[in-house]
Amino acid sequence: MEEELIGIKNAAISFIFEADSAEELEEIKLQFLGRSGKLTLTMKEMGKLPKEKRPQIGVLANEVKTTIEEALANASTRFSAHKKAVIQKKIDVTNPGIKPSLGHLHLITQAIAEITTIFEHIGFKRVRYPEIEWDHYAFTALNFPENHPARDDWETFFIDQKADAKKGQVVLTPHTSSGQIREMERMAELSKKSGEPVNIRMLNIAKTYRRQSDVSHTAMFHQFETLVVGKDISIADLKGVLDYFVKSYFGENRKSRIRPYHFQFTEPSFETDVSCGVCDGKGCKLCKEGWLELGGAGMVHPNVLRNCGLDPKVYTGFASGWGVERVLMMKEGITIDDLRLLYSNKVEFLEQF
Ligand code: PHE
Repeated sequence: MEEELIGIKNAAISFIFEADSAEELEEIKLQFLGRSGKLTLTMKEMGKLPKEKRPQIGVLANEVKTTIEEALANASTRFSAHKKAVIQKKIDVTNPGIKPSLGHLHLITQAIAEITTIFEHIGFKRVRYPEIEWDHYAFTALNFPENHPARDDWETFFIDQKADAKKGQVVLTPHTSSGQIREMERMAELSKKSGEPVNIRMLNIAKTYRRQSDVSHTAMFHQFETLVVGKDISIADLKGVLDYFVKSYFGENRKSRIRPYHFQFTEPSFETDVSCGVCDGKGCKLCKEGWLELGGAGMVHPNVLRNCGLDPKVYTGFASGWGVERVLMMKEGITIDDLRLLYSNKVEFLEQF
């Protein structure tokens, strides 16, 4: 009996010691001191003991009981103090809140969404075409003769796959202009079936790839390409869309201009510029002469129209291809020292936007 009582005491104390809530303490109390608790039942057995042993065991049993009761009382202060603190925290409205960590869309995804909305407002439709493409769509149909040196400007990645007899090698799209061919072929086909004239307002935003990597270049980047084809489309339309985009994206106070340039697939071809937002076109450290370069544009080359089954005597069009990362960097208030940071997955960097 003596050993049993000591065992009960030790067990109760170690349970109490490990308990981590007031509810658990309540259960321990029931388990040992309750009506059918371990100690209570053992004490009931005392009647069966020889008379002379009873007083001694009685004293021990009472000691065990008080020890357990005291331990329970001590442990319960632990939880009531904790409880009070929690309640206080809940009602102290002056405490700063705990900010939930919410993710957000990547900077480039945000820019793509913004650009898409701007063009959708004037009737452009966003399309998607393959990112892994035949040379035919990336170059040949865009009026680049085989082995023409202009192809080198695109620093293309080639896929290690057997070339197709007609469509040539497989490449990672070095520009979104391959989408022009895909779109014109598709729309020429539709027009043949429906008898309706061709009317294209394409916005092709996609990943593009070139063999380049430094502070202002990443091997993968994004371009947004416009293509408008119809009857009587002129340079004035190109300039109008350029100006509309510049004012919508950069701000009402920014101006745009076109300069002569050369591309194989447009004639005439232009470089498009936007007035510098830092000096307002006066000339400063950033822009030197007041203008920042946006990217290429031009009137769709008659050969390109022909390659897609469109008659250049009936149809004219313009196209432009600008960089998403580039326009983002040119937007006032955003300075990114190293463009590669965009794709480095550094949370510290991405969190800022
Ligand atoms: N594809 C050209 C480039 O990557 C840009 C461009 C697009 C030029 C459409 C003219 C027309 O530089």
